[in-house]
Amino acid sequence: MNREDFELLKKNIIYFDNGATSLKPKKVVDTISDYYNNYSANAHRGDYDLSLKVDTKFEETRNLVKEFINAKKAKEIIFTSGTTDSLNKIIFGYFKNYLKENDEILLTKSEHASNILPWFELAEQLNLNIKYIPLDNLEVTLENVKKAITPYTKVISIAHITNVVGDVRPIKEIIKYAHEHNILVIIDGAQSVAHHKTDVQDLDVDFLAFSAHKMLGPTGIGILYGKEQLLNNIKPIIFGGGMNASFQFDKTRIYNDIPSLLEAGTLNIAGVIGFGESIKYLNNLGMDKISEYEKSLKKYAIEQLKKVNDIIIYNENSESGIITFNIKGIFSQDLAIYLNKYNICIRAGNHCAKILKDDLGIKNTCRISLYFYNTKEEIDYLFEILNNPNLKNEII
Ligand code: ALA
Repeated sequence: MNREDFELLKKNIIYFDNGATSLKPKKVVDTISDYYNNYSANAHRGDYDLSLKVDTKFEETRNLVKEFINAKKAKEIIFTSGTTDSLNKIIFGYFKNYLKENDEILLTKSEHASNILPWFELAEQLNLNIKYIPLDNLEVTLENVKKAITPYTKVISIAHITNVVGDVRPIKEIIKYAHEHNILVIIDGAQSVAHHKTDVQDLDVDFLAFSAHKMLGPTGIGILYGKEQLLNNIKPIIFGGGMNASFQFDKTRIYNDIPSLLEAGTLNIAGVIGFGESIKYLNNLGMDKISEYEKSLKKYAIEQLKKVNDIIIYNENSESGIITFNIKGIFSQDLAIYLNKYNICIRAGNHCAKILKDDLGIKNTCRISLYFYNTKEEIDYLFEILNNPNLKNEII
């Protein structure tokens, strides 16, 4: 769908690495250039026309994000530099003050580094315990969540869709059950918000983190969503201009309310404005149409890939556009480098989920991650290359 909007797709590239970052439509890139060329003033600081235009555009994106995820209020949308930054702000800004010694944090072994390392740090600082929800065939089930919860569990922090096996977690049911047991839930939406309709009120999620660059937007911009009453109790971890109303020589200071409280310093303004354009683009296309298309493309890709000699597919049944595989006897990175000769971009390695190997039984895999601009023809081309009877000899 809409391939003509992407300049990179005109360069004979087959891009199957959308889990790492998506391509950007020309409209988004033009919007960013337009800001730099025509009104590149700062936001929320000037009383002249150029700056006021920036303020309007900046807040327009906040509203677009609010509508996109169906948040109750625009002030629940905080701009950050990306999912990692959002998760760190949630973990050190909220949970550092909320959790007490011996409290338990529930994660899974397939979380991305950004949803594990900040917890390791906090657990060491506060003497907390980290527990992992056991995976069932690499997936999270409500039953296993129930089994993992103890009276000490205070927070569950999991991805909606994981970046390695692409399993879509039953987060609505998990959140409901967690709330019945006074447990807060953080959702890492890095791999999901660009691919499925996300409704934070329907999910009743407490915090959600995601990045613009995986949803057609620029790098260096992301979102921290939190329920207003939770954000009202979050402490900033970055201090500076824009987040304070006043301060005196004797250290007295008054900080602003959210969202500015958590947006110290000059943000990535071009990124915010470009992100607004990417959300408009996704809205025009329709999130339901995107997820339906991806689902059918993944089905087709699995059917084709299964015919490849010696292929091991680790997540045939997961419902996202992520396919993780290896070809017996070929090191994953060697295969990725080989495919690069044919202008095919895939990711190989551990995909920043370094403890998943305990459950997956293997450290490195190849990953194809699809988006709406990928096609059956691209899959056929990949299949043709992988199905080459001389593949191993050519690589090894
Ligand atoms: N976390 C990103 C990925 O899965 C970078 O590739």
